[in-house]
Amino acid sequence: MTIDLVVMGLGHVGLPLARAAVSAGLTTAGYDVSGAVVSGLAEGRSHVGGVLDAEVAAMLDAGFRATADPAVLDGAQTVVICVPTGLTPQGLPDLSAVEDAARVVAARLRPGTLVVLESTSYPGTTEDVVRPLLERGSGLRAGEDFHLAYSPQRIDPGNPVWDVHNTPKIVSGCTALCAKYAVAFYGRFVDRLVLARGTREAEMAKLLENTYRYVNIALVDEVALFCHRTGIDVWDVLHCAATKPFGFAPFVPGPGVGGHCIPVDPRYLAARAESQGFPFRILAAADEVLTRMPRHVVERTLSLLREARKGPEGARALLLGVTYKADVADVRETPARPVAEGLLAAGVEVTYHDPYAAHFTVGGRPVPRATDLQAALDEADVAVLLQDHACYARETLGNAPCAVFDTRGKGTGARVTHL
Ligand SMILES: NC(=O)c1ccc[n+]([C@@H]2O[C@H](COP(=O)([O-])OP(=O)(O)OC[C@H]3O[C@@H](n4cnc5c(N)ncnc54)[C@H](O)[C@@H]3O)[C@@H](O)[C@H]2O)c1
Repeated sequence: MTIDLVVMGLGHVGLPLARAAVSAGLTTAGYDVSGAVVSGLAEGRSHVGGVLDAEVAAMLDAGFRATADPAVLDGAQTVVICVPTGLTPQGLPDLSAVEDAARVVAARLRPGTLVVLESTSYPGTTEDVVRPLLERGSGLRAGEDFHLAYSPQRIDPGNPVWDVHNTPKIVSGCTALCAKYAVAFYGRFVDRLVLARGTREAEMAKLLENTYRYVNIALVDEVALFCHRTGIDVWDVLHCAATKPFGFAPFVPGPGVGGHCIPVDPRYLAARAESQGFPFRILAAADEVLTRMPRHVVERTLSLLREARKGPEGARALLLGVTYKADVADVRETPARPVAEGLLAAGVEVTYHDPYAAHFTVGGRPVPRATDLQAALDEADVAVLLQDHACYARETLGNAPCAVFDTRGKGTGARVTHL
């Protein structure tokens, strides 16, 4: 039996991709090594913010199935690899999931199959890492017996406007024919495709997009640090600069960067460049500034407590919003963690409020959660707005009975201090 698509890795990228393919009428299955992910999906439960349980149920009704059995790859016309590309404990690219997935595909690869890598990685991954694994494991040749492509995923979690089908998608292949097959595949459910010259260009384009955010966030963070030192209102500076109708893209400062992409992808670029004898200096500078931001937030919070003649030993700090992104349920690499660590190390009692995070741990220990925002503000000595969730109204922050350290420039009022 043939199947149009098998998605490998049913996470934040793979599940929305599978949803888009199913909606377009492609027969689709998903393969994931996590038993919890597979059984949850089989029971109609989504573990990915932005994909509703009802949508998983509709996918199942349309024939989608999730499995941990590689036999699902038999008969697949297209396989898309969407597995994680994190970092090793030493902060270097960890391609082990991509390599594992490629080995599993290789063992069942048939002539004519299109294999696409969507995971973010450094230039050369498709050609130098995935291709040899597929060829060795299958005895087939890319570009001759099967087609191999790279197409980075641009999904923006929580974005109500841009999704898989209307975000332009970069597509590339190891050969012109591979690219042609990839274009034909994505053309079935993506409105606009952009053909890259080759896989390295497509891989580099993805890293450039995320590095652009990384460097520009570091820039506004450093501007914020400078403005604080010199008594300039950085939020007014940003407001003024953002009115320029050309040549300026606004970014906002904050407690640091988080998530699976922005803090991680530039490490892929830096490590690859280092291994090729190219010192990527702007990445090192941005890394230094961004690493400093959570410490800065801790120092400013402790100084507010000192002004209020509290603690730090035994003072109560309430963290507002611990996810890495506003109105998104994802705490991976969140800067809230080093902020909480710094406050706890100073002896402060830390609680958090976040409608999107049922659990938040620091060093493996759970941080107590407050669910009633007003009651939590009443009990706190200082509240630290880390994430600009829509539930944190300007007036709530302005009327809070405690000191408020606002890292997002949102609140106004006598007790509100901005980053
Ligand atoms: N999350 C985003 O917003 C986003 C956006 C663009 C690109 N990306 C990139 O897409 C890739 C996937 O990211 P994600 O956020 O979806 O990760 P995720 O952690 O949400 O999901 C990955 C899934 O892959 C599964 N998995 C791990 N190893 C596997 C293997 N060997 N075989 C099959 N399944 C395996 C995991 O169990 C998990 O369910 C990464 O390279 C990431 O950088 C992510």
